[in-house]
Parts: sequence; C-alpha cells; structure tokens
Amino acid sequence: MSRRSRKQKLPKEPVTVEIEGFSHEGRGIARVDGKTVFVGGALPGETVEMQYVFSRGKFDEGRTLEVIKPSPDRVEPPCEMFSVCGGCSMQHLSPHAQIKHKEAILKEQLQHFAKTEPKEWLAPLQADLLGYRRKARLGVRYVLKKERTLIGFREKYSNFLTDIETCPVLIERVSGLLKPMSELIDGLQIRQFIPQIEVASGDNKSALIVRHLKPMPAADRESWMNFAQKHDTIVYLQPKGPDSLVRLWPTSDEEAQLSYEIPEYDVELKQQPLDFAQVNASINRVMVPYALELLDVQPEDRVLDLFCGLGNFTIPLATKAKYVVGVEGVQEMVERGQENARFNELTNVEFHQADLTTNLEEKEWVKNKDYNKVLIDPARSGALEVISNIVKFAPEKIVYVSCNPATLARDTGELIQHGYVLKKAGVMDMFPHTTHVESIALFEKK
Ligand SMILES: C[S@@+](CC[C@H](N)C(=O)[O-])C[C@H]1O[C@@H](n2cnc3c(N)ncnc32)[C@H](O)[C@@H]1O
Repeated sequence: MSRRSRKQKLPKEPVTVEIEGFSHEGRGIARVDGKTVFVGGALPGETVEMQYVFSRGKFDEGRTLEVIKPSPDRVEPPCEMFSVCGGCSMQHLSPHAQIKHKEAILKEQLQHFAKTEPKEWLAPLQADLLGYRRKARLGVRYVLKKERTLIGFREKYSNFLTDIETCPVLIERVSGLLKPMSELIDGLQIRQFIPQIEVASGDNKSALIVRHLKPMPAADRESWMNFAQKHDTIVYLQPKGPDSLVRLWPTSDEEAQLSYEIPEYDVELKQQPLDFAQVNASINRVMVPYALELLDVQPEDRVLDLFCGLGNFTIPLATKAKYVVGVEGVQEMVERGQENARFNELTNVEFHQADLTTNLEEKEWVKNKDYNKVLIDPARSGALEVISNIVKFAPEKIVYVSCNPATLARDTGELIQHGYVLKKAGVMDMFPHTTHVESIALFEKK
C-alpha cells in the first residue's frame, strides 16, 4: 500500500489519548483501539489531543496538537522553532528528566543484552545545555516562493527545511552566521545549486564546507572570500566527494588551523574540518578527565587507546602514563594524532592505523607491548571484534566510552564472558535536547 493510501485511511479528526510510555526516540506512546501510536511532542502521564500523521502497519504515528493534562516534567522549549524543526526532539522535557530518560535507556539495554547492571551508577555528566554544538551538517535550499535561502535542519514530519535565522543549540559563533550566510547565498549565481553546508569548529575558529553541484563562478567565489574575511571564518568548497575539498580562504595553513584545548592537561589538539571530533566541546573538556580518572592513570601505566581519532584521549593520557598507543582506522586521523603528539612535545606516544574489526595478532603494537589499561571509544557499531584481542593482555581496567547503549550493552556481555566486572557506568549529556545517548563504563578484571 502506498504512503498516500495509508495516509488517507487515517482518521482526520484529532483524537484525545493518554500517554503511557516514552520511546527511545523521545515520543509519547499511546494505545488506540489496541494499536500503538507514537505521539511526537507528548510526554508520559500526559493527556494530549493528537493528529495522526502516518500509519505504518504495526503502529501509527501522530503529533500533539494540544496538551490537555501536562506532565510535571514539561518545560517551555528554549527554541521557539522547536515544534517545527527536526534538529531537536526533547526540548519540551526538563533537562533533568531528559538525562533520567537516557539513564533508563542505558539501564534497560544493559539488562536486556548483558543481564547485568553496574556495581555503581555514576552521576550523569552534564555541561552546557545550549550553544554546545560545534559540528553540524546544515541543509541549504533557495526557496523561489520566499525568494530566500533557508539554511538549517529539516522540519519534523517533512522534507522542507525549517525557516530559522539562529539556532540556540549551535555554538553562538555558528548560529550567528546563519542569517548572513543565507543573505550571501541569495546573491550568488549558483544559489540553487548549493544543497549543504557542513560546519566544524575549534575553540578558535569555525570552518564552513560549502557543497556545490555546479562550478562556482568567479564572482560567487569572490563573495565567499569576502564573507570569510568579514566573519573571520574558514571557507572550503566541495564540488564532489570529501576528497574534492579545496580551501578558498584563508590561504595560509596557519590561519586556517582549527584546534581545541583540554586545559586540565595543558594540551591543544589540531583538527581538520572533516575529522571526527566530539560534537560538544564543553562536555569533552570534562569527559576526558573523567575517563582518565576512571582509568586511574598512573606514571607506570601502559595504555592502549582504541578508536583514538586525532588523539582526543591519547594525548591527555600521554601526559600521565608511561606510554600510550593509539589505534585508529583512518590514516589521516593517525597522521593528525602524530602531529598532535609532536605539537604537544610528547614522545611516549605512538599512533597506528588498523581496522579494529580484523584479526590484530600480527600487529607490532600487539606483539611487542604489554598494556595494563585500555580505553575504547568506538563508533555506533561498537567494539565486539576487538574484545578478543584486548583480553589477551588481561588489562586490569578498561574504560569504554560509547555513543550507542545497545552495542555497549552487547559488548558488556562479551567482557563479562571474558572475566570482567562492570564496576561503574553512567550517561554523559553530549547531545542535550536530542535522544542521542552517550555513556561511559568502567570494567575491571575479576
Ligand atoms: C567515536 S569516534 C572516537 C574518536 C576519538 N576517541 C575522540 O574522542 O575524538 C570513533 C573513531 O573510530 C574510528 N573507527 C571506526 N571504525 C573503525 C574500525 N573498524 N577500526 C578502527 N577505527 C575505526 C573512526 O574513524 C573514529 O575516529
């Protein structure tokens, strides 16, 4: 059945429902005539009037039109576009209740996949709730009817871009660029052929990566260059895939360098705009020391840092441990790690490239080293394959930083099988107002 005919079958009239639960995606769960309905904008315990949006066979989807009986956890969303913009999903829930929800998800996943819970729950790590997001992929569309360029996130329940001029979740420096960027693109010859701008920011500056589907005419390039200078911003053009990136402004490498500091260790990390970097700078500044504290890093420790990226944990670890080895799949990131070690004058650290889902037995950094502590910070797919390699060193402590509670829970089960105990675990508010759950866990050898 097509989406159109499914839609036609949906009741057009608003329906009043009681919200019994809350989904992982931050939607209220109701039952209507025995069928589950996920209701956007509704919270558990509320009575709301909702409008059906989609029917998906086993469940329906709706959106809240009016809250009849509000939850005590309901708050005024900090962004006035929250009900329209798809960039955030939980601004209507108090920050305290948001983090409780994330803790409940971690708890449930650990129970479901590993039949366990930590010996001690860590208090949630929280930092800035707004102005935190330093990386984003922004949609761009010149809308003929409005005679204006929209830049931002898609609307909830539609493919249109939300009409915003600022975004309180982006770091202020980037939020303040949305309106001037939109005005700039309005005046470009190829304004209809720019589908996306990616933003990456360090502590010092922000870089814009402008994707364009037609060659950028000289006059348009000139406009971007003027924009870059006026707003002290780095501008890259990207005509094709990620390899086609060309920096337009500034011309000097030094001026175009993004970097961020982790003051606790007096280190500065350099990054390139397409590098993986933790999205929330304020949480990162507390998360790194928190991870090192859990690992209880001592001067005689030999530490392995897996999925190390540009050295976000590796470099701070090297300021405290005897030696550190960082391993990462992307060669450019390995080189960035090496550059960061040199820049911070650390000689007790090595970076290696490896696909951590493969057999690592023959790797020099596996055969010739004897690690007593390990830090893992994998992508969403987790670290299952690498666990059999790690356990061979019998490290006394493993700290696992995770952006997906389901794979963390699955890998917890695996570590338990190999004689580890889940000592501590908790969530970290890396992405306030979204349903993204970031967690940290400490495992110790029995
Ligand atoms: C969540 S990021 C963490 C990076 C770093 N620890 C940090 O804090 O910035 C995960 C990293 O794992 C790397 N990665 C993903 N899959 C991998 C694989 N199969 N083998 C090795 N590295 C991988 C990614 O390139 C990325 O740098």
